[in-house]
Amino acid sequence: MTTSPLAELSAHVAALLARIDAATTLHDLLAEEPFIIGKRSILSTLQKSLGALAPEDRKAAGALLQEARRGVDEAFMTRREGLERENRAAALEADRLDLGDVVVSQVSVPVAVGHPGIVSATQRELEDVFVAMGFTVSDGPEVESDWYNFEALNIPPAHPARGMWDTFYVDLGEPETVVLRTHTSPTQIHLMEQAVAAASLPIHSVMPGRCYRRDTPDARHLAAFHQIEGLVVDRGITFADLAGVIETFTHAYFGSDISSRLRPAFFPFTEPSAEFEITCTICRGEGCRTCSLTGWIELGGCGMLDPAVLDAVGIDGEEWSGFAFGFGIDRCAQMRHQIADMRALIDNDVRFLRQFS
Ligand code: DAH
Repeated sequence: MTTSPLAELSAHVAALLARIDAATTLHDLLAEEPFIIGKRSILSTLQKSLGALAPEDRKAAGALLQEARRGVDEAFMTRREGLERENRAAALEADRLDLGDVVVSQVSVPVAVGHPGIVSATQRELEDVFVAMGFTVSDGPEVESDWYNFEALNIPPAHPARGMWDTFYVDLGEPETVVLRTHTSPTQIHLMEQAVAAASLPIHSVMPGRCYRRDTPDARHLAAFHQIEGLVVDRGITFADLAGVIETFTHAYFGSDISSRLRPAFFPFTEPSAEFEITCTICRGEGCRTCSLTGWIELGGCGMLDPAVLDAVGIDGEEWSGFAFGFGIDRCAQMRHQIADMRALIDNDVRFLRQFS
């Protein structure tokens, strides 16, 4: 009986593994490669000798040898990867430029980049909705005379309706003549005056901006807040146009499942006047604490331009008619993003602000 050429196989494998272990540098290991896993390896020699075996023994011997080669190959590759990794780490270390505490090879912390705040973003979105409906966007001053903020809007001095707006006055000597505007409605007056002077009626415009009231901030009010005013002056404008604009806006901004409704109200500058409400965005109309179980949330006021206002700016109410509306931008942001307490808008807590990047 001839001894199998594989009689010493496990001793050979052990010797090869020891050679792999003994190579301490990548260079040494690669120099050994032909003798360990290449053509000059004992395993290759054994492979050739299998031909001398009886056919019935060859298959089993081949499988055995195959397995031995796989083990050695794997050990070789693992060792090779390990040594390559060590080389890379050493090269990185050698490349590292240490300037005292400043480690140049260290990855730098990304610089935080800001983004528009939620109120600015909301204002832009609202402007976009109205521009798509054919409105222009206009600006007005935040510091107004009593005439623009009140009188021209049909709110004479000492009129009880002034109680609707708790006013900050600017101290300019003459008492209570200059105010921080309490709403964006005075911008309507500026626009109508300009259109009369330039003979450029009709007007279809929205006027966003900051307003001020002597209110104690709470979950739904801020002393400095934002409104967007709308004004249309044209021929043959009716209440139906107003209702249509409000409903179109509501769907465009809040989504098709949120509707609007108008309820009779009083504002000195519009007649008839209405408050407009939208489906509560928190409960989608089911009724919840935010909407006091009504399913509706008040967003702003609106109405047909009062003839006294057209008179104040010299527009002929026989030829022209129009409507106006005004509502809170902060309130829109609050309803859209379901912000429980509006004061979060001015706290400047980055954990809050970051949610709207
Ligand atoms: N200016 C009103 C306010 O701040 C809101 C308002 C109501 C504006 C009716 C309008 C309007 O243009 O027609 O309380």
